[in-house]
Amino acid sequence: QSIIAIVPAAGGGQRMNMSLPKQYIKIGQATILEHTLHKLLSLPLISRIIVVISPDDHFFTTLAIASNPRISFTHGGSTRAQSVLAGLTLVNDDSWALVHDAARPCVTHADIKKLVDAVIQANCGGILATKVTDTIKQSSHQSNIDFPTIIKTCDREYLWAAATPQMFKAKLLKESMLKAKEDGVSLTDEASAIEYCHGQPLLVECQRDNIKVTRPEDLPLATLYLQEQGY
Ligand code: C5P
Repeated sequence: QSIIAIVPAAGGGQRMNMSLPKQYIKIGQATILEHTLHKLLSLPLISRIIVVISPDDHFFTTLAIASNPRISFTHGGSTRAQSVLAGLTLVNDDSWALVHDAARPCVTHADIKKLVDAVIQANCGGILATKVTDTIKQSSHQSNIDFPTIIKTCDREYLWAAATPQMFKAKLLKESMLKAKEDGVSLTDEASAIEYCHGQPLLVECQRDNIKVTRPEDLPLATLYLQEQGY
């Protein structure tokens, strides 16, 4: 089974309040993107990794890892979904596409393997996710007003927080994302495109350290997790 990884890394990282895109922030000896790529390279089953970078990115090609024979790059778009679609155009229809955010450097080898094994065994796409431990409220209005009111409490038993990697047959993912795009549905992950087209991806529970580095306060946490993993 051929597995091709797509790593969306074309975001500007606006919520980090830094001029440097977040994937190029150094944690220990390596940038966030390099940590992420090392994790994916540790699985020989992943034959190729396509890193999707911004057309303005002149930094990626200066990294030593960019010349790894299993790694190539392409240019992304203005949303994460457009960047993933740009990567997908380079993947054979019958391969598995494994999409993993550049901004999730703390994912473990064991969790990536757990997802790959579950998906291949079930022959059905799936994602890494964690069970929600907070009590989740739904608001009456969009959350950008000062004090929206609660309209309901969601049943936590059925709630999961989606992470990456997310792995699907490339043809199915491409077609589902294009259909969602055509219908004007905005996507924040791959599984939501599959769900939109009535698929039911697997939920594979991962460790809580698979955080997405989004805000400045995530950096000390990512540093701690990577240190605990020996980086
Ligand atoms: O913005 P967010 O943190 O959700 O981005 C998740 C991942 O998607 C990041 O690794 C980011 O670089 C990538 N991304 C992208 N193209 C965009 C926006 C985000 O590849 N236009």
